[in-house]
Amino acid sequence: MCPTNPAGEPSNNPLQVGIEPETLDPVSDETDSSFGDDLESYTTSLKSSVLNYRYVHGRRYHGFKEETYLFPNDDEEKDRIDMYHHVMTLRCDGELHLAPIGPNPQRILDIGTGTGIWAIDMGDKYPSAEILGNDLSPIQPSLVPPNVKFEVDDVENEWVYSSKFDYIHCRAMACGLRDWPKLMNQAFKFTKPGGWVEFQDFDCEFYTSSNGEFEKGNSIDDWAHKIRDGAAKFGLEPEPGPKLEQWVKDAGFINVESRLLPIPTGTWPKDKRLKEIGAFDLIQYLDNLDGISLRIFTAAFGWSPEEVKVLCAKLRKDFRNPKQRMQHNFYVVWAQKPTDTE
Ligand SMILES: C[S@@+](CC[C@H](N)C(=O)[O-])C[C@H]1O[C@@H](n2cnc3c(N)ncnc32)[C@H](O)[C@@H]1O
Repeated sequence: MCPTNPAGEPSNNPLQVGIEPETLDPVSDETDSSFGDDLESYTTSLKSSVLNYRYVHGRRYHGFKEETYLFPNDDEEKDRIDMYHHVMTLRCDGELHLAPIGPNPQRILDIGTGTGIWAIDMGDKYPSAEILGNDLSPIQPSLVPPNVKFEVDDVENEWVYSSKFDYIHCRAMACGLRDWPKLMNQAFKFTKPGGWVEFQDFDCEFYTSSNGEFEKGNSIDDWAHKIRDGAAKFGLEPEPGPKLEQWVKDAGFINVESRLLPIPTGTWPKDKRLKEIGAFDLIQYLDNLDGISLRIFTAAFGWSPEEVKVLCAKLRKDFRNPKQRMQHNFYVVWAQKPTDTE
């Protein structure tokens, strides 16, 4: 399978899905046959490394870099990412961002864009802007607004963008990245003076309440701690949420604002809006516990896939328990790059 452009034609660039690159270097008519051969073999091997998905325990994983990311990239996971987009957007009162980016941003970067659902919504909302989303997996659709494009990239590598961004967004990357301070420094470098960054993320704690007090110590919380410990064994940061605020400050951003927004799991809240959020959150966990758990439990703790599936079946029952009034924390932090930098 080859990525296609919006017209549905195969793209020549294996790393580019969506609109054509903003600028292209002029192409010489002269051909250097030795370079041409090298280039062809280089792009062929790059294309195959990006699209050569790996299949483990019946799930599909990205092929870009071995063991860089432990959650799948198949259709079930794509549905989960889209569902989670609704949970997080609804929890922000329907807003795609909380940073005050103004009505006419020009360049926006979405780090680890997943299915690209946020980037696509931003493209519709801000026709003035060009939105670039990057990800290890080319799992984004090809029919997207003309101002949205996607690239395959490992965001933990050195960034090489030719110009800076008005706004950089990074959401739901818990268990996905290793070096957050480096990411923050790169975000600082590539934000325009006066521009904004926003990070939205999680930790691995689930709270239940029988009497109005939310407490830890339940089967879901135990499972989440195993996910936390397993991801950490691979050097992945499982709990960026509570650390975001300090990291953005350390990177040099100012006007830092943060919100801690508990997300209910299940339909237990009385409030209609929270009930809807809780319903979506519950479905996204019920449908995808196996996907979240399989790779981490087998690779980090030596469980068999069958043992993981049995645990997930039990946890699904616990998730459905209406008495447990479960919630977990969603952290949103936004901040500005000083105007007098550079
Ligand atoms: C849970 S999804 C979140 C997707 C999106 N940010 C959202 O909120 O809808 C995490 C995504 O991060 C991507 N990812 C993980 N590590 C990455 C890396 N080092 N570079 C680029 N993308 C990465 C994964 O491939 C996955 O699509």
